[in-house]
This record gives sequence, structure tokens and C-alpha cells, in this order.
Amino acid sequence: MRIKIIKEDIIKAKGESLIIPLFEEKAKRPKFLKTIDSILDNTIGKIIKKGYFKGKLHEIYLLPTYGKIGSENIILVGLGKEKEFILQNIFQIVGTIGQYIKKTKFKNAILPVYNLSLPFLSKGELIRILSQEFVSAAYSFNKYKSEKEDNNIKEIIFINDTSREFSTLKKEINSGIVIGESSNFARDLSNAPPNEMTPLILAKEAKMMSKKYKINCRVLGPEQIKRMKMGAFYAVAKGSRNPARLIVIKYNGGKVNQKPIIIIGKGITFDSGGISIKPSKDMDKMKHDMSGASTVLGTLKGVSELKLPINLIGIVPSTENLPGGNAYKPGDILKTYSGKTIEVLNTDAEGRLILADALSYGEKLKPSLIIDFATLTGACVVALGYHASAVLGNKKELIDEIIQAGENSGERVWKMPLWKDYFTYIKSDVADIKNTGGGGGGTITAAAFLNNFINEKTSWAHIDIAGTAWVEDTRPYVPKGATGVGVKLMIQFILNRLKTK
Ligand code: BES
Ligand code: ZN
Ligand code: ZN
Repeated sequence: MRIKIIKEDIIKAKGESLIIPLFEEKAKRPKFLKTIDSILDNTIGKIIKKGYFKGKLHEIYLLPTYGKIGSENIILVGLGKEKEFILQNIFQIVGTIGQYIKKTKFKNAILPVYNLSLPFLSKGELIRILSQEFVSAAYSFNKYKSEKEDNNIKEIIFINDTSREFSTLKKEINSGIVIGESSNFARDLSNAPPNEMTPLILAKEAKMMSKKYKINCRVLGPEQIKRMKMGAFYAVAKGSRNPARLIVIKYNGGKVNQKPIIIIGKGITFDSGGISIKPSKDMDKMKHDMSGASTVLGTLKGVSELKLPINLIGIVPSTENLPGGNAYKPGDILKTYSGKTIEVLNTDAEGRLILADALSYGEKLKPSLIIDFATLTGACVVALGYHASAVLGNKKELIDEIIQAGENSGERVWKMPLWKDYFTYIKSDVADIKNTGGGGGGTITAAAFLNNFINEKTSWAHIDIAGTAWVEDTRPYVPKGATGVGVKLMIQFILNRLKTK
């Protein structure tokens, strides 16, 4: 998708559709509306008067202009009430526009940005977010369709009344495109069917991406995983014939002595549950159980393309979880890379096992902080549904930073407690800990489990994306399938840090 910004008059701007966002309140509507409407014989005024368009959030009304202005059509878009307007609405509205344009098959859209402003964002940041969201909105997954319908919008034209600050704004547009594409890259990986997204293929994707951006990527196989004594990761991998992979990607954009940020992603390319097998209903969705991994790869792609001045390491333990003849079993006791032992009570709680070894491995690399992303628990979906990821961790400051980045990026995150009380549920009679909590609070006991593999001094946060990694039913602003969640959040987190530190 191309996005450009030009100095142009709204009446003259040429294209297939002109987007006019309008609040419900009449007083809050832009001045240019009157100018356009006088040329259109007051059509928009009549539409509003008749109540066909009220400006309600996500409302859309299309009208042709019959050559009276440069654009062939106008798309009125409702913003809701101005006093209820929050940043989150922007992410969804751009999505709604994108989905709508797919239906109309328009190839381009013009968006006036004359008086664009929000109290909590600069114009540049807003343009970056708009660009990012238009790239997201144009996403579709049709690789496996014989007849590919490409209804996606090809060009967004921002029009402004002055060319002042164009060099800054163009940079922001480019950043937006990079972030949007990185998120779409993560969606592609997560949407891929499990026969076409094995640990081996995921590692190949990581290698290809790393080569493109000239960053370091190391991939280890089962023998090395075994030799390194990653007993928990190795055990999960045993039930599958497709060999496991440990992927480690290093991006050095910061100072040589600057400690790296480490991001870790759960890379279960298919989760059948193993011997504790899942019910067949919705088991297909478990192709998305590597969404944490795709977040890590997408983030590394974005950060290296933007050449951000930080050091970042991505770690992805990847395997299938299958009930093969050699599969690990309930009752097994595993020895982890850290030396701690785990009693397996349920082989479907496999994510925390592979993460345990990945977290301890991350600790060895002397990080400034560790954040892990995982579709870890069904309990997270019960607690938060589909509109927030859960965050738990051992340092309040880090959690606050992540929540803030969530607000800024549209990928919202909600905190859950990680009090000592919850740690008692994962104590084992026969090993150091067990891999299920057994009772309620499944997201919390899972995080408590992970906490066992983190040094007290290390800042660490765990983000459970079980409810946000994919969308089951198409929403007006986002189609069904993988969301790429975490990529925009992580890049925003890094951008916020670069701004303040
Ligand atoms: N990958 C699943 C979690 C999941 C379920 C993510 C549904 C998204 C939607 C994970 O490996 C799992 O099965 N967890 C179990 C843990 C339990 C056995 C303690 C769960 O949540 O049921
Ligand atoms: Zn599972
Ligand atoms: Zn899983």
C-alpha cells in the first residue's frame, strides 16, 4: 500500500473516495463541510437532516459526487460524541473504513488532515498511527485461495493545507507503514495452517527475515536442546515427529555495553493438548498457538527496519504438542535448564514448560528486562474476553509502562495480580513445582509458574494473549483470523522509552 501526503484543496483532490469523519455534535464539524456541501447542492445537509447519517461511532454513509468535486465519492464516517472520543476509537475507525472500502472496491481514498489534532498526541504521531492502521486495515489472508479477490485499497492520500513539516510527517508515515507491515507479517505467520507452519518453517521464516535486515539469527535443533539440558522444552517436543527449534535473534542498534531487552514468544505451531488431548471442537484454532512467536518475529522485523537505537533479543522455543508414541505423560517429572524440577499433571499446559527453559536461557544473556508473549491460558479468555491481553510481572514500573504502551498502540493490556498467595497452588508433592494450578485463577497460577524461572532482580512481565491473538467472528473493524497482537504494543513500548529515557 502507498501512503502519501500532499498539499491540496479538498474540492480539487482527485480520487475515488473522500473520507469525511464527523462527530455527532454539529458544532464540532469541520468548516470545509459547508464549502463542499454548497457545491453538492446541500446534499450532505439533507442527508443529516433526514437522519440517514447521525455521526454515530462506526456509522458510514456513501454518496457519489457526479463530478462536482475532484473525488468521485464521499464516505461520511461517524466519530460518535466528541466528549466520549478516546484514542482507542481511532484504531477501530480506521479499521472500519478499511473494511468498508474493501466492499466498495475503491482503490484509493483521500483523507483531509487539515486541523487534525487530539489533546494527547502530536499531529505527527497521529499521522503515524493513521498510516499504521490503514496498512493493518488493508490486510487479507488469501494465500490458499485459488481465486484471489484483491479488493484491498492501494493508496491513501492525506491532504493538508500547507506543506510545512512535510519532511517530518513523511517520516511518520513511513514509520507507520513499517509498523503496520510488521504486524501483518506476524498475522501471516499465525494464520498459516499448521501443516505449513511447523517449527522448521517458522525457523526458516526467522532466518529469512533476519537475513533481509542483516541481523543475527541462530537456530538450534532437538539434539542441542537436549544437550543444553532444556528438559522441559525437550519433553514437550518428544510427542511430535516434526523436530523442535529454538530460535534466537539478536538486533544490535544500541550501544555495545547497553543491556538488551529480551522478548520471548511461545511457538507451539499446533497444540493438540498432547496425551491430555483437547476436545476436537475448535482444535483447529490451536494453529494460532505460536502467536507469541509471531509477535517476537514481527517486533524484530519492525525494530530493525526502523533502525531503532536499542539492543533487542528475541527468543522463540518452537514445537508441536502432539500425543505421539514417545510423548511426555501426566506424572512425568522433568528437569529444567534452571535445574528446578517440574511434575507434569496435564500435558496441555505445555506452553509454560517450553517458556520455563526459554526464560532461564534469556536470563543467561543478561537482559535489562524480559517480556514474554504467549497464548497461555483459556482462563485468560474467561477473565478478560477478547479485547485486552493480560499482563503480570514482578515490577510495577514495567507493568505500568506496558499498560501505557497498550493505550498508545490500541493493543490494550490489563493487569492481574501476582501475589505470593497464588504460588502455593503450583507446589508439588514430588517435585519443585507442578505444571497446573488446579483451581481458579488459571492465568495467575500460570504466571506464578513462569516466575519460578526469573531471577528476583530481573524486571519481567508476562503477557497472556490467549484472547487477543485472533478474532473468531469478523468485527466491523477487523476481519476474522490472526491479529498480530503485541507487535504494535512492543514497538510502541520501545518508542515510548526512547522518548523519555
Ligand atoms: N494454548 C492453550 C491455551 C489457549 C486456550 C489459548 C484457548 C487460546 C485459547 C494452552 O496450552 C492450554 O491448553 N492451557 C490449558 C492449561 C490448563 C491445562 C492448566 C488451559 O488453559 O486449559
Ligand atoms: Zn495446551
Ligand atoms: Zn498451548
